[in-house]
Amino acid sequence: MSKIGFIGCGHMAKALIKGLKSNKSYELFGHDRNTKNLAWLEQEKIPFCSLKEICQESDILMICVKPKDMYDLCSEMRTYIGNELKIVSVAAGTTLENLKDALPGGKVYRAMPNIGAKHNLGITSIFSYEELNEIIEIFNYLGKAIVVEDEDKINLHTSLIGSAPAFYFEIINEFEHRLSELLPDDVSKRDITLLFLTSLISAIQNGENLEDLIQSIKSKGGTTEAGLNHLYEKDFINIFSEAIDAAKNRAADLSMD
Ligand SMILES: NC(=O)c1ccc[n+]([C@@H]2O[C@H](COP(=O)([O-])OP(=O)(O)OC[C@H]3O[C@@H](n4cnc5c(N)ncnc54)[C@H](OP(=O)(O)O)[C@@H]3O)[C@@H](O)[C@H]2O)c1
Repeated sequence: MSKIGFIGCGHMAKALIKGLKSNKSYELFGHDRNTKNLAWLEQEKIPFCSLKEICQESDILMICVKPKDMYDLCSEMRTYIGNELKIVSVAAGTTLENLKDALPGGKVYRAMPNIGAKHNLGITSIFSYEELNEIIEIFNYLGKAIVVEDEDKINLHTSLIGSAPAFYFEIINEFEHRLSELLPDDVSKRDITLLFLTSLISAIQNGENLEDLIQSIKSKGGTTEAGLNHLYEKDFINIFSEAIDAAKNRAADLSMD
């Protein structure tokens, strides 16, 4: 059984812990300074450890703090790190080289998961010069692990897969706003949204070409064409792509902070 310790038990660690809890080959521990997250660990029956204990008892450490807190944490941790400890940072931007400098001795990995890990539907990019099998196995259990050859690509992953769920949630939010104009109070908006999104998933699950799917809804001079033309005129597709670049560039900036 591998012992996995989580340092920083906020949004990301909670998703990883929830996804991994059902796997009996892992024993999970947590460490945090935030009392709300400590209460959550207690509620989930995940043992709390001091920083020293979690560094010394874990086989694998997942560091899940914000990039701004990373270096202070590393300087607190470094005297507790043994040579065999595998240390996985999920922090956006923090490069492997900076991690190695901050934590000499441990085996260091970068992983960029997304919130889908909570339901074992996560997608995680992994980068390291160390042997990767055990880390890949963990993230495959949480969904799908992708090993990247070039560390710079993690910034695009951070944006396209880490941040982009929030972009889609914004669109769904507007969809639900507009649904309220349509539905009587006793019909659940969320049920309609789920049915709508599930129908989109079913369509793409069949492997149909996206252009064919668009053409199957759009007819010349029709309502769909009018809506799509508005999106094209307002450059929505480009704007969406630029939002992906903005998040990617921010990930690159964070590595230099
Ligand atoms: N959220 C996502 O969808 C997502 C996706 C991919 C990657 N990530 C990465 O995951 C990391 C964590 O993000 P998050 O959204 O989970 O952040 P979060 O909710 O703020 O959780 C971080 C936790 O770590 C605690 N912490 C910070 N420094 C600490 C220290 N020295 N000792 C003990 N606890 C400490 C924080 O305490 P305080 O509240 O007191 O500061 C907080 O409870 C980030 O680096 C982010 O780039 C997040």
